[in-house]
Amino acid sequence: MSLSKDTIREEFSLLKKHPTLHYLDSAATSLKPQCVIDAMNEYYAEYSSNVHRGLYDLSERATTAYEEARKTVAKFINAKSEREIIFTSGTTHSINLVALGWARHVLKQGDEIIIPLLEHHSNMVPWQMLAKEIGAKIVYWEPRKDGTLDPTDINKYLSRSTKLLAITHISNVLGTLTPLKQIIQKAFSCGVKVLVDAAQSVSRIPIDVQLLDCDFLAFSGHKAYGPTGIGVLYVKEKHYDNMKPVFGGGGMIREVTTAHTTFNDTPHKFEAGTPPIAEAIGLARALQFIKKLGLSAIHSHEKALTNLCLKELNIIEGIKIIGPAKENLHESIISFTINGVHAHDIATLLNEKNIAVRAGHHCCMPLMKWLGVAATTRASFGIYNTEDDVYALADGIKNVRKTFKL
Ligand SMILES: Cc1ncc(COP(=O)(O)O)c(C=O)c1O
Repeated sequence: MSLSKDTIREEFSLLKKHPTLHYLDSAATSLKPQCVIDAMNEYYAEYSSNVHRGLYDLSERATTAYEEARKTVAKFINAKSEREIIFTSGTTHSINLVALGWARHVLKQGDEIIIPLLEHHSNMVPWQMLAKEIGAKIVYWEPRKDGTLDPTDINKYLSRSTKLLAITHISNVLGTLTPLKQIIQKAFSCGVKVLVDAAQSVSRIPIDVQLLDCDFLAFSGHKAYGPTGIGVLYVKEKHYDNMKPVFGGGGMIREVTTAHTTFNDTPHKFEAGTPPIAEAIGLARALQFIKKLGLSAIHSHEKALTNLCLKELNIIEGIKIIGPAKENLHESIISFTINGVHAHDIATLLNEKNIAVRAGHHCCMPLMKWLGVAATTRASFGIYNTEDDVYALADGIKNVRKTFKL
C-alpha cells in the first residue's frame, strides 16, 4: 500500500461513497480504512464473545485478539510492557483516569498543576475539577504570541509546589507541535510528573514513551484511523503503586466478599466491566495500517498539504491564519478567520461546496479568549487528502468572500 492518491483513497469506502467530498475534519475524527471495518466485522461475525472468563474456543479467541491488541498498542508507542497500557473509551476518559485514579491520591492541598493555555477542555476541566476538590492550584502556561510554546518558559511557571504538567503534543486549534523532549527533561529535573495528550499526534508523529520519558500518555482510537469508543492510557509502570481504580465492577476484581474486594492485576483493575472488544481489535488494526504506510511518509504527505494550504490561504485577502503564519509550524491543522464573516457561516458555505471543515471554539474556550477570537474555522488533513482538497478549500473561501461581498 502506498500514499499515492489513487491507492490510499481506495482504502476508505466513505470516500468512494462520496467521491466529491473534501473531508477536512480529521482533527475531529479520521475516516476509517476498510481493514479496520473488516477486523471489527470479523470479530462480530466470527468470534463475537466476551473476554477473559470464557472457557470455550470463541471466548479464548476473543481474549487473545483483545490482549494482542494491547501488545500492538504497547509496541506502537514503545512501552516497556503491555501492562502499561489501559484501554479506555478515549483521550477524555484516559485523562480523567489519571486525575481521579492517580492525582487524587498523590497531590495535596497547595500543590500546583501546570497546564498550557492551548489545552483541549479534556486536558483542562478534569484538572480544574480535581484542583477544586483537593485544594490544588492550576498554573496556566501562556504561549508565545504566535501560539507556540517556548520550552524555556516553563521555568517561569515551575515552583516547589509543582507536581504535574499536563500538556498537549499537538494543539488541536493551531496545529503547533510541542517541543516535548526539552520540556519533559526540565520538568523531570524538578521532580514534576508529565502527562502528554497525544490525541492529535499519535497518527502522524512517532511516539516513543521510553525516549520521551513521560509518566502518562493519552490518545483516542477514532483520531488515528480507528473506531470510536476506544482510547489508550499509557502509565509508566511504577505509578501503578499510587494508582487506585476509579470504577468498580466485573473484570477488575480478584476476590469479592460481602466485606471487601481485592483487585485484579494491572492493567485489568482499571478496566471494569465488559471492555470495548471490537474497538480494541479495530484500533490495533488501525495502528498496523499506520505502521504499514509509515509515519514518516504520512507526516511528509500531510506536511506538504498543510504547507500548500498555508500558501494558498495566505494570499487570500481578509483571511487571518490563527497561530504561526509561517510554513512548517503547523501539523495538519490550520485555523483561520475571515474579517467580517462568522466562522459558522464560513463552514456552512463551504459545506455547500462539499467541503467539510469544523467551526467554533474547538473545545478550547480559554485559548479562544487568549487569542481574542470567539471562534475559528479549522481545516485539518489526513492521509487521504490531496492537493485537490486544498485548492477546493481556497476556492471555497474565495466564494465565501464573494457571497459576503468582501
Ligand atoms: C488535543 C485533544 N485532546 C483531547 C481530545 C478529546 O478526545 P476525545 O473526545 O476522543 O476523548 C481532543 C479531541 O478533539 C483533542 O483534539
